This record gives sequence, structure tokens and C-alpha cells, in this order.
Amino acid sequence: MEEKFKILFVCLGNICRSPAAETIMRKVVEDNGYSDKISVSSCGLIDYHEGYPADSRMISAAEKRGYIITHSARKIAVEDFSRYDLIVGMDSKNITRLQGMCPREGMMITKIISVAQFFEKYSDKTYVPDPYYGTEGDFNYALDLLEDACNGILKYVREKRNF
Ligand code: 4NP
Repeated sequence: MEEKFKILFVCLGNICRSPAAETIMRKVVEDNGYSDKISVSSCGLIDYHEGYPADSRMISAAEKRGYIITHSARKIAVEDFSRYDLIVGMDSKNITRLQGMCPREGMMITKIISVAQFFEKYSDKTYVPDPYYGTEGDFNYALDLLEDACNGILKYVREKRNF
């Protein structure tokens, strides 16, 4: 059997946007019956929150939509660039840092894609703003964008893997 397609969501702290993206994507994958074909995880660019659960404001905003975030934060490692098939950054700063860290071997750099590339309803938007210093509305807006992107990501993976 073919190996699972592995998706890694990346943000700065790995406590707001990327653990939410991971949880939403996992539900999209499960709901569409692809759990045996796609796996999902997340990490951050800094180790500041390493080992901690997601931000309680994101946990409760997500819970209101039926998503249970259980992820513990971790910092990205250089091995992640070979381990994962798709690495999704939340904003242009994330993408620049990921590209800077990525080993130049093979075509690993082509795995790094901005979340905005997958927006459908929000195709005029270019990133998921960091809600960390924001309001409840900012957390909800991040979830709106991520739900939209995750549907687009499933389509992308299905096309890439022909299933
Ligand atoms: P995230 O939000 O990147 O969506 O997890 C942040 C969380 C924490 C910090 C920055 C962004 N921080 O600087 O501590």
C-alpha cells in the first residue's frame, strides 16, 4: 500500500493557527474517508511554547465549531522537510523562514506552500492573520479561513495522488 500523504501546518508559535489547521484538516480527511491515505500534523517556527497545549482562546473558539484541539506545541526540525509531503505556512513571514531553513537537496522547497494558495471562498485573501494579540472575532476569522483552505487542500491532495 502507498505511504500516507503527510501534511504539516506551520505557524509562528504552534499554539493558535497551525494546531487549529491540523485539527480542522484531520476532520475534513476523516469526514471524506481518507484517514488511511492522509496524515496531518503541525509545528511552529519558535520553541517558546514547546510542550504546551494550544492557546485556550483558540481551543474554545474551535470547540464551538465541534473541533477538539489536543496538539502540544513543538518547533520544526530540519528532518520535517523530508518527512512531510506538503508544508503549509500561514503567512509570508512563515513561508520566508521555512524556505530559509529548507535543505536545498532535491525539490523539497516545492513542498512549502502558503495556505492562501488553497483559499476558495476567500480567494482574495493572502494569509491567515495571527490572532494571538487579537479578539474573539480574530480567532473566529482565522477558523473561517482555515476551514476554507482545508477543503482546498483535500482537493489538491486528491489530484496529486489520483484518489
Ligand atoms: P500562532 O500565534 O503563530 O498562530 O501560534 C502566535 C502565538 C504565540 C506567539 C506568536 C504567534 N508568540 O510570540 O508567543
